[in-house]
Amino acid sequence: MKCVNNFRLRLAGRELIPIVVGGMGVDISAARLALEAARLGGIGHISDAMVPTVSDRRFKTKFVAEKLKKFKYNILNNDKTDVQFDLARLVEATALHVGRTMEAKKGPGLIFINCMEKLTMNAPRETLRARLTAAMDAGIDGITLGAGLHLGSLALVQDHPRFRDVQFGIIVSSLRALLLFLRKNARLGRLPDYIVVEGPLAGGHLGFGMDWAQYDLKTIVAEILQYLAQQGLEIPVIPAGGIFTGSDAAEFLESGAGAVQVATRFTVTNECGLPEKVKQEYLQAREEDIEVNLISPTGYPMRMLKRSPGIGAAIRPNCEAYGYLLDGSGHCAYIDAYNHERETRGDNTALSVKDKSCLCTHMRNFAIWTCGHYTYRLKDTTRLLADGSYALLTAEHVFHDYQYSKEHDISLPEPSCPSNAGPVRRLR
Ligand SMILES: Cc1cc2nc3c(=O)[nH]c(=O)nc-3n(C[C@H](O)[C@H](O)[C@H](O)COP(=O)(O)O)c2cc1C
Repeated sequence: MKCVNNFRLRLAGRELIPIVVGGMGVDISAARLALEAARLGGIGHISDAMVPTVSDRRFKTKFVAEKLKKFKYNILNNDKTDVQFDLARLVEATALHVGRTMEAKKGPGLIFINCMEKLTMNAPRETLRARLTAAMDAGIDGITLGAGLHLGSLALVQDHPRFRDVQFGIIVSSLRALLLFLRKNARLGRLPDYIVVEGPLAGGHLGFGMDWAQYDLKTIVAEILQYLAQQGLEIPVIPAGGIFTGSDAAEFLESGAGAVQVATRFTVTNECGLPEKVKQEYLQAREEDIEVNLISPTGYPMRMLKRSPGIGAAIRPNCEAYGYLLDGSGHCAYIDAYNHERETRGDNTALSVKDKSCLCTHMRNFAIWTCGHYTYRLKDTTRLLADGSYALLTAEHVFHDYQYSKEHDISLPEPSCPSNAGPVRRLR
């Protein structure tokens, strides 16, 4: 049986280990995680979600405080039309986040940024153009377009000097979505350099309805591979969602995928941006603790742990500080849900907003614990410690486990030295 290391991904004139660590906002796929993936010869993602906020945390800048100060007068106003991002500041924050990450890059791999169209930021086109341009200026190796169809995104940067040098990928969950993207961008003479096919078991937002369980990643990947072959298009296809062992990955590579994109197993590594307490929540999770719900104001279903503290929390909308999901007309579905709850309850004391969540605030505070379907299997990838917690792993350990393991084995960390491969646990 082959393992992932028998394959290579040819991209950007390089031969890469075909392991892509997927983007996880907000700063869950932190720069140090992406840098490890690149150092080890694969591809790591940082995220462009809430970059001013991430920059404040990473570099002690004051982007959020400055925006809040400017729009404080509007806090009690339901109309958020005025609350616009200062594009120059957005560019500055992106330049810092991306630039410093690229400066720190070592090794043969690549660093990409995950760019979500649903971050409409009260001026969808302008803010997206600013984010893409700033990331390209700051030397990013590639941009993975997700959370949306991105029918006009490439056109926004077609005049950028690096337009044909930066690797562009699109995340799709169906052949239909891919066809729309290809048709819409045909006039640019610029095909995507890779296609991430995200199935229904992924973490974060899903590209399916609440009937997600009826879909299957292997079937969607096979349809897309067949279509590309018929058209004579040699674009690497990168399946994502529920690829839990190296052997799961090798099976996709054997059937024609160019690489795999994985995320859940890296959420319990030291390099992942989640707080340690939340990593332990992921490790403790059982299958029945995970749900797909509709509380994201984006309208997309999202997978998360049921006991995420942000679920049902009734905080005042925080758009003056954040406002990443304002749709361009000063509107976010959480504002409606919050006001509806206030009007029906009549008082503020015991409010609980069940329908929607103030996702900006809760993702910023790591209070919505979005996760992949197989999060409940994470406990099988490490050791239980005497105090009832689980040992965290190094990103290198998980990366190498994907790269070298066979027969669905998972190597456990040594008790004394978590970065070394230890005995194995067979998972199937
Ligand atoms: C905690 C978490 C957060 C995620 N956030 C994002 C995101 O911000 N944008 C995105 O395109 N995908 C996001 N994803 C999806 C991953 O990038 C990846 O495609 C998918 O989860 C891979 O499946 P796996 O987690 O089963 O390995 C997230 C996944 C997880 C686990």
